[in-house]
Amino acid sequence: MAQRPVILSGIQPSGKLTIGHYTGALRNWVALQDSHECYFMIADLHAITVRQEPEQLRQRTLDTAALYLACGIDPQQSVLFVQSHVPEHTQLTWVLACLTGMGECQRMTQFKEKSLQHRHNVNVGLFAYPILMAADILLYQADLVPVGADQKQHLELTRNLAERFNYYYGETFRIPEPYIPPLGAKIMSLQEPTKKMSKSDPNENAVLFLTDTPEDIQRKIRKAVTDSGREIRYEEQRPGIANLIVLYHVATGKSIPEIEAEFGSAGYATFKAALAEALIEFLRPIREEYLRLRAAEDHLHNLLAEGARRARERAAHTLQLVYERVGFLKAPVLEFSGAVVSNQRG
Ligand code: TRP
Repeated sequence: MAQRPVILSGIQPSGKLTIGHYTGALRNWVALQDSHECYFMIADLHAITVRQEPEQLRQRTLDTAALYLACGIDPQQSVLFVQSHVPEHTQLTWVLACLTGMGECQRMTQFKEKSLQHRHNVNVGLFAYPILMAADILLYQADLVPVGADQKQHLELTRNLAERFNYYYGETFRIPEPYIPPLGAKIMSLQEPTKKMSKSDPNENAVLFLTDTPEDIQRKIRKAVTDSGREIRYEEQRPGIANLIVLYHVATGKSIPEIEAEFGSAGYATFKAALAEALIEFLRPIREEYLRLRAAEDHLHNLLAEGARRARERAAHTLQLVYERVGFLKAPVLEFSGAVVSNQRG
């Protein structure tokens, strides 16, 4: 069989996943599995560029793994792994960092935004975030990288770094292409519908999580901000109702004109009640499967171990080539005594 094109993508375990992650990432990943060789990671190294509570990070990493699976990622077909389980990511980051200009990182829109948001913790990791992302992608020789539009600039940097490395050291990396999901993939905040729905929004009512209970969904949809007028019609100048129509489309598969015809002048209350019902039914199987998988922690750990093994196989091969090209002396094979190193004196 001809080699299938390689895909790599990831989500940070820095919060609970939202319905926006489903439309913008997970459902597209699931659809790509048959035709591509897929690597889907949980980007925990990226997550610590902003402060994370350690135990919460550990739990969220498992939550995210369970949700990938609950949404339809097939661990036999695709490689599902945790970024920090594959040390080659950090190793390649260093090499690429030495090829990156300060100005290139300084220009990144996301860095500028996040340095304002986290004024008291503008750390070097946050600055180097896009270089780590380039390493993620280049290690697997990915052809295609599904990302949201906000990550396109990072992908552009990735391509530049790959070309630069290839130019200095000889052909080593494949040059990846971005894969931007189709329109309608972007879900807006339920409270401020001109802003993207974000897992880290402090206002819980603004965000629909994939794990929300039917009661959560009822409440959030009831409280969702709408616009003046009462017509159920998709119009850009009415972002609140437009977003709810998109959500109804996501939950039912019905087209926008079909939805407009169905509800027309039925009024917001009727539409919202139908939307809440549709979302509850849509999210029910995901939530149930998530709860089942999340309860079986040993099974999750085993799947992630197998994913790490398969990921490392590919990553180690690329890193070895890179180290050779850069001129590092072949590393000796080490054997350890097994002695325990303690952080206590005496
Ligand atoms: N930065 C991405 C985001 O926040 C997550 C990510 C990390 C990623 N490494 C990646 C996405 C590599 C695609 C490829 O959305």
